Amino acid sequence: MCGIVGYIGHRDAYPIIIKGLQRLEYRGYDSAGVAIYDGKNINLSKTKGKVEDLKKKSESEISLAGKLGIGHTRWATHGVPNDVNSHPHYSNSGELVIIHNGIIENYDSIKKELIKRGYVFHSDTDTEVLVNLIEEVKKKEDVKLGKAVQIALNQVVGAYAITVFDINKPDEIVVAKLGSPLAIGIGENEFFIASDASPFIEFTNNAMYLEDEQMAILRLGKEIKLRKIKDDSVVYPNIQELQLNIEEIEKGGYDHFMLKEIYEQPRAILDTYRGRLLASQGLIKMAGVDDNLEKFLNANRIIIVACGTSWHAGLVAEYIFEDLARIPVEVEYASEFRYRNPVITDKDVVIAISQSGETADTLAAIKLAKEKGAFVFGVCNVVGSSISRETDAGAYTHAGPEIGVASTKAFTTQITILTLIALKLAKEKGVFSTSKLHEFLTELENIPSKVEKALQSNKLVEKIAEVYKDSTNCLYLGRGYNFPVALEGALKLKEISYIHAEGYPAAEMKHGPIALIDEHMPVIVIATNKGHYDKVVSNIQEIKSRKGRIIAIVTEGDTTVKELADYVIEVPETFESLTPLLTTIPLQLLSYHIALMRGCNVDQPRNLAKSVTVE
Ligand code: G6P
Repeated sequence: MCGIVGYIGHRDAYPIIIKGLQRLEYRGYDSAGVAIYDGKNINLSKTKGKVEDLKKKSESEISLAGKLGIGHTRWATHGVPNDVNSHPHYSNSGELVIIHNGIIENYDSIKKELIKRGYVFHSDTDTEVLVNLIEEVKKKEDVKLGKAVQIALNQVVGAYAITVFDINKPDEIVVAKLGSPLAIGIGENEFFIASDASPFIEFTNNAMYLEDEQMAILRLGKEIKLRKIKDDSVVYPNIQELQLNIEEIEKGGYDHFMLKEIYEQPRAILDTYRGRLLASQGLIKMAGVDDNLEKFLNANRIIIVACGTSWHAGLVAEYIFEDLARIPVEVEYASEFRYRNPVITDKDVVIAISQSGETADTLAAIKLAKEKGAFVFGVCNVVGSSISRETDAGAYTHAGPEIGVASTKAFTTQITILTLIALKLAKEKGVFSTSKLHEFLTELENIPSKVEKALQSNKLVEKIAEVYKDSTNCLYLGRGYNFPVALEGALKLKEISYIHAEGYPAAEMKHGPIALIDEHMPVIVIATNKGHYDKVVSNIQEIKSRKGRIIAIVTEGDTTVKELADYVIEVPETFESLTPLLTTIPLQLLSYHIALMRGCNVDQPRNLAKSVTVE
């Protein structure tokens, strides 16, 4: 978590840093800070709160001139979010300035050692320890900043992406990475540094991503000096042309990124299968699967690892793979999987799902699975992310940047890609005939326009939100393919409106949650006409007889549930296995409107961050 931005070159650094931090705010927004160096003085400003607060504060308290700058937006790990704990941090001499994303696990022992040597600490952060360790090495070994960073990093345990400069070297910035992401934008005699490429996209398309255990010295007028932290060996920079464009990372007329991303889903789903799905020929082309077909077909089972919303997409995939391709699937929270000594063999295929491609627990689960010999396939949205590089093969969802912290289009595009993989395997295994596959693919091609229709429920959903916005609890029920959708609906509400919500398999309601139902309790039931419709209708009856308030998601034209529910929201008819792509839409809208009406920050809910790079 945390977003870091840096600039060195011929432009004024401050506007680049502030705008960059605003784009990276999805990574954390407990506090923010900036340091601008004009060759003589460092002007540093930091504050608890958002980048907007920093902007106000810095513009009134410091000189903003300078062609070198670094900035940070924080998701607190060590030390409460306050001004002092905010980054950047100085070394004791005031000569080194650092920003850091990650955790230095052995900071305490290093700190004690440094205190013995006379160092003084002003904050509770591990970052201030690191910058002083670098300073101590620099003095003791009488080396330049780059070398000092390298020696110091070999003494720390943990994860980091750091950017540091030395006031004695106004033309140089040193960066390093282990576990947390760091991109370098390369312009004409200028360098940009950021946690992802969005802060510099309008300045340059040339970028490189540091790999784990690499560091770089960025000196104006010189080539990038890229090194391995461990042994100082030289690495050749892999400079790529970015595909990102500026429109994708702006709100485009919507009030919030979340709403924009909800509305982008028809296009995002289309982009996910574009070029991969050839319905008329009954073909699915995906290089990552095509090249490793035998591994998938010979697998004893598929293990899916993920966190948060991606884990919910994994649960939908479990139904899809088992139902359509007849392959046994287990879905695991990455954080549990990695610590519970799981039985994994080289006959297992592990699919890691992650929007950001940076989630620390998912990355660790991948490493474990690889060590045990499994073939690991990644489903990521962010191109070039750590997970996409760490996995043996994979497929991008191509949803475009998702900036709202609550995940929306990532979920539906993950389901889309996993459906394609399952259908391909079903065909290859002979479980699906060509005609059945053709039928499925044709329906998949209809999904974007059906999502478009589902989005038309927005006005009705807003009305429903008005009625239930003050609820303190909410229950979401679904069966089969729509059980994970119930979980996801509840998660969305919790995340952004802070209403307690639980998702349950509808049939499990009678084993506990039914006790919560009274005339105040909104129960959102997914009751589409395929699957276990009659059973869900019985569950609705059970809620009704306990006076619960029922909001049902039904298939267009439904009449039975209409008689029972307080509100029904219709979605178009589709194959049962594709219903999650539609039923999830009104649930996303419902949480959006409720959060908005409650005055919550929809795009940046409290305490959360989009990219969770700590364990
Ligand atoms: C955070 C985000 C969630 C996301 C989860 C997993 O908790 O707030 O929206 O689902 O991380 O992230 P990933 O990038 O791995 O999908």
